[in-house]
Amino acid sequence: MLKRPAIRASLHQLRIFAAVAQHASVTRAAAALALAQPTVSIQLKELAAAVGMPLIEISGRRFSLTHAGEDLLAVADRMYEEWGAFEMRVAEMKGLRRGRLRLAAVTTAEYFVPDLLGPFARAYPGIEVQLEVANRDQIVDRLEQNRDDLYVMMMPPGHVALERIAFLDNPLVLLAPLGHPLAKRRALPLAALAGESFIVRERGSGTRMAAEEAFRAHGFVPRVRMELGSNEAVKHAVAAGLGLAVLSQHAVGATPAASGLAVLAVRGFPVRRSWQVVYPSGRPLSIVARTLLEFVRAQPASVAGRRSRARSRKASAGRG
Ligand code: PGA
Repeated sequence: MLKRPAIRASLHQLRIFAAVAQHASVTRAAAALALAQPTVSIQLKELAAAVGMPLIEISGRRFSLTHAGEDLLAVADRMYEEWGAFEMRVAEMKGLRRGRLRLAAVTTAEYFVPDLLGPFARAYPGIEVQLEVANRDQIVDRLEQNRDDLYVMMMPPGHVALERIAFLDNPLVLLAPLGHPLAKRRALPLAALAGESFIVRERGSGTRMAAEEAFRAHGFVPRVRMELGSNEAVKHAVAAGLGLAVLSQHAVGATPAASGLAVLAVRGFPVRRSWQVVYPSGRPLSIVARTLLEFVRAQPASVAGRRSRARSRKASAGRG
């Protein structure tokens, strides 16, 4: 139990005293606090009576604080600082009870973003989450126009200064229809696919961009037969035998065979990319957005965590 203080002063009196000390004048403090001068004088007198010692000395035109007054001013400053921090925390807690989170994610992220949001939405049922899903180019447009709180993508643009938090691996796999003769081969060079047709995502897709970069890095030029506007359309077209394609493992799922697909063991694949949450550098985040970022960082499948675990496994294998 809190001990009842021997000196009974109110926050209101401390505030008045601090204002008088700061302005070195009862009249100016009363004006600053929008109070009548007698009110300020009475409260000051009551405070001094409660302390049991004079707090200010006025001789002629000279105003000064007594020792007790100086000490009390330091205490009042510390109390107000603590109180201000408390008010801010309360405002934040209230903000988390009701608020809105505007999130924009590239189309491929739709396979896991709802899972990511699940625990957050359950913890903060008063927060309304708006999720905009579009391809990379459209998400980059939104980012340039500052339309959302946070963005989820694999290929953030280089021309905007961004904060980036990588949180999940995004392997890009090379797909063929189930039963394709090349599906049995191991360590295939890309050149072995020279005679095959390819299906690509639409222009503006990050998946397409990453696939093109990977092909270019290996000096491979795919024979593109078809351009389709969604991951699902590409999956169906590959399963139907219309060509091969590169897609995120997240779009394919854990059992590609269930969708009529096989993952080819091509050298240089899967392409190792990662999912990132990004936002413009220097942009202050709302409490809601900051809280979601903490959820993302706490992801068990954080990329940083996995990498360091992989490294330590390798190191111990080397020693053994
Ligand atoms: P996409 O996005 O769905 O536009 O291919 C992937 C990405 O840009 O990260």
